[in-house]
Amino acid sequence: MIKNISVIGAGTMGHGIANVFAMYGYKVSMYDRNKKNHENVIDEIKSELEFMAEEKYIDKELINLTLSNIKIFSSLKETIENADYVIETISEDIKSKQELFNQLDKICPIHTILSSNTSSLSLSEITKDISIERKKRVMICHWYNPAHLMPIIELSYFGNMSEDIFLDVYALYISIEKQPIKVKKDIPGMIANRLLHALAREVFHLIETGAASSEDVEKALKYGPGFRSATTGILESADLGGLDIWCAVEDNLFKELNNSDKACDLMKQKIKEGCLGLKTDEGFFKYPKDKKEKIRKDFFRRLIIQLKASKNY
Ligand SMILES: NC(=O)c1ccc[n+]([C@@H]2O[C@H](COP(=O)([O-])OP(=O)(O)OC[C@H]3O[C@@H](n4cnc5c(N)ncnc54)[C@H](O)[C@@H]3O)[C@@H](O)[C@H]2O)c1
Repeated sequence: MIKNISVIGAGTMGHGIANVFAMYGYKVSMYDRNKKNHENVIDEIKSELEFMAEEKYIDKELINLTLSNIKIFSSLKETIENADYVIETISEDIKSKQELFNQLDKICPIHTILSSNTSSLSLSEITKDISIERKKRVMICHWYNPAHLMPIIELSYFGNMSEDIFLDVYALYISIEKQPIKVKKDIPGMIANRLLHALAREVFHLIETGAASSEDVEKALKYGPGFRSATTGILESADLGGLDIWCAVEDNLFKELNNSDKACDLMKQKIKEGCLGLKTDEGFFKYPKDKKEKIRKDFFRRLIIQLKASKNY
């Protein structure tokens, strides 16, 4: 049974992942090679917990309890000493992840399960130089951002590990109220990102070709397919609508859809101009400095409302 968790990398994803495990009572040890992040990470987790309490998603008492379950270490070796399960969530760089896995393989207890939060790298590449025994205890556990509010977790089951180990990790994620997806093939993007970017390609194409304004394309998604998808998947929607109709529509539409194998030019142009989104005050939309905090909180608030609604469903 998994009790002690180590999170390696305390950036955007790492702090959120540590937050969730600690909130559900697990002892979490953390490590980041950048010491500056050691100072920020607890403040960031605290502020997210306070916001969840303000929105009445968690009890106030949970804030200190959660924080007391997290400890940050200044050496990797100390961090993983008692770990049953390690999740690395360091930069998306194959060499760094390989080096880290090689190190973890050597210094972790024999029973420790090692996992990666990679969004795009192959598990067999990341773990290519680790011991044969450890290869039976490695997997991808892919979270979605923001980790403390998105219910999905994608778990690899690529044939390298026994079902017992997989089920231990599956049970771990059920215990923190995530919705695990068992991914059976080592394919780039796992499942959720493939779905997301198939849709994103058409969104960018519609804007680039002037089919509708950016605001209206977003609105069509939020109040059309996106609205329904939060409660009803594509297959169920097709069943409800009638497969004969869906089939006719797809035969007519698929040949019209964008099938580019590159990110869209409009986005590349924006990047050239230094418009990277919220972090640079402008992306597809504008983010005035004095409104940024409110924009971020509104984003979190909407997810909390969805979470509350999906719990009562
Ligand atoms: N940001 C997202 O939306 C998102 C979503 C899902 C998955 N992911 C994946 O999660 C991972 C982390 O992404 P992020 O957005 O949190 O990145 P980030 O840059 O915010 O954080 C990475 C952290 O890892 C630390 N780090 C780098 N190398 C290290 C090492 N060798 N040892 C210890 N610490 C190290 C860095 O100092 C940094 O604090 C990536 O694999 C990414 O693909 C990201």
